[in-house]
Amino acid sequence: MTNFPRGTALITGASSGIGALYADRLARRGYDLILVARGQDALARIREDIVQATGRTVTTVRADLGERDDLLKIEAILRSDPSITMLVNNAGVGAVAPLLMSDVEDMERMIRLNVTALTRLVYAVAPSFVAREHGTIVNMASALGIAPEILNGVYGATKAFVIALTFSLQKELAEKNIRIQAVLPGAVDTPFWEASGGSLDRLPDQIVMKAEDAVDAALAGLDMGELITLPSIPDIGDWNAYEAARQKLMPNLSRDVPAARYQTRR
Ligand SMILES: NC(=O)c1ccc[n+]([C@@H]2O[C@H](COP(=O)([O-])OP(=O)(O)OC[C@H]3O[C@@H](n4cnc5c(N)ncnc54)[C@H](OP(=O)(O)O)[C@@H]3O)[C@@H](O)[C@H]2O)c1
Repeated sequence: MTNFPRGTALITGASSGIGALYADRLARRGYDLILVARGQDALARIREDIVQATGRTVTTVRADLGERDDLLKIEAILRSDPSITMLVNNAGVGAVAPLLMSDVEDMERMIRLNVTALTRLVYAVAPSFVAREHGTIVNMASALGIAPEILNGVYGATKAFVIALTFSLQKELAEKNIRIQAVLPGAVDTPFWEASGGSLDRLPDQIVMKAEDAVDAALAGLDMGELITLPSIPDIGDWNAYEAARQKLMPNLSRDVPAARYQTRR
């Protein structure tokens, strides 16, 4: 992979796991970086390693994206820094408890980060990308976005939102030369599981991917121009069939008469 200068990538949730790997890989591809998370010490360590390995310019910004003032600070950076060519909307939290066993306040906090912050950051960066007819937005979703029954349903629903938003962004922005991608990993070996109240030890090894492999697959998918990247699915034809079934519904989603099966005699 070439490593000529590519502008700056702003990565949220870069202090650990998938986001930290994106930071490493994108720096090696020639991006300067703005790394965002709450954990300033972890960000500083990651910054040091990357600068040493790649010589790229790496800035860290402490922000709790669930807090409005911090979120506005990151939005301002996205609006005002013309060097930014890529947003990796990666910060996210999960939950493993079933829907009704989980605390609604925690669910709201999760929605604020996984949905509200992600959306506001897209709104902050998209106009500049459109004006420059150049830019990349990567939204970190999850396989649970299409399988919300498997773990906590609100988590799955936040990721379904990310997938839906990505489809819509593609429709509106692709023709303006903006690359859009949603990444749908299955289980990945990161601190996410402990932070979500679960444990990777309870999952069979054969369903857990290394974070390095997940991020490298996601970047390979981006290079291939994929809108939706599913690192685990062996046969992309399975996704294509799923998507084709969705497209088949489109012409009939809105009609003047109910379907015959609902036309009961009055
Ligand atoms: N691991 C998996 O199995 C898996 C599978 C599919 C999708 N994903 C998605 O991948 C993304 C990254 O998760 P990961 O697995 O890499 O987990 P992780 O290692 O726990 O990383 C989560 C990142 O988000 C940041 N973050 C959490 N709350 C934040 C807040 N309020 N404000 C700012 N940053 C915050 C964390 O940093 P600080 O704590 O320092 O703020 C950390 O850098 C998430 O969107 C997750 O939903 C994960």
